[in-house]
Amino acid sequence: MINVALDGPVGAGKSTVARECAKRLGFVYVDTGALYRSCALYCIRNNVDISAANEKAVSELLDGSLDLNFEIIDGVQHVYVNGEDVSDKIRTPEISKAASDVSALTSVRKFLLDRQREIAAKNNVIMDGRDIGTVILPNADLKVFITAKPEVRAKRRYDEFVAKGIETTFEEVLADVNQRDYNDSHRAEAPLRQAEDAVLLDTSELDFEGSVNSLMKLVQGLRKYEK
Ligand code: DC
Repeated sequence: MINVALDGPVGAGKSTVARECAKRLGFVYVDTGALYRSCALYCIRNNVDISAANEKAVSELLDGSLDLNFEIIDGVQHVYVNGEDVSDKIRTPEISKAASDVSALTSVRKFLLDRQREIAAKNNVIMDGRDIGTVILPNADLKVFITAKPEVRAKRRYDEFVAKGIETTFEEVLADVNQRDYNDSHRAEAPLRQAEDAVLLDTSELDFEGSVNSLMKLVQGLRKYEK
């Protein structure tokens, strides 16, 4: 199996670039953020407060009654919370914030660890997240840390929200990007950081096609790669 670990901050182009590369390569694209988002959604629906002080209750809820599944249909990832496809419901600003909170909890990261490793063991994957190269797949064949300037990332995120009809402002999105960068890279558990053996890919000056081509070249440069 070929495992590509793709980490980086919000809005760096990870998911769109990884999805397109995976499609061209015939690999499975795994968006691990969707798993954290689903856990957050489940906590909110069950009125369980997401905070370090309440970690025990969060952990009991997830271990006790969350059946989290993941499927690729026509190249598109779907996540299921107790049988319900929540793929669209987890893409709101409210869930973004809650997912950042839930992802800081050790028990949640533990809950999701084996699920992510199992997928990578069985498939050629491009797995996108924050700790894939550092924690989940330390022996990945290729590790890429993809990033861009905060303003560029916020603009991309803002355009996505506008396209989906979600009401917000650029300033709000930029503040959220900065806050989430801070949270994701300062948490004690599996903080966002570039693995020592990861290749840095800065997409600030690259358009979508340029970013895709850069990642494709890196994967196709692997000795293990056979088309
Ligand atoms: O990539 P995203 O925005 O969908 O991720 C949602 C949140 O989950 C984000 O705050 C970071 C966190 N996350 C994480 O801690 N580890 C991952 N592997 C993926 C996401």
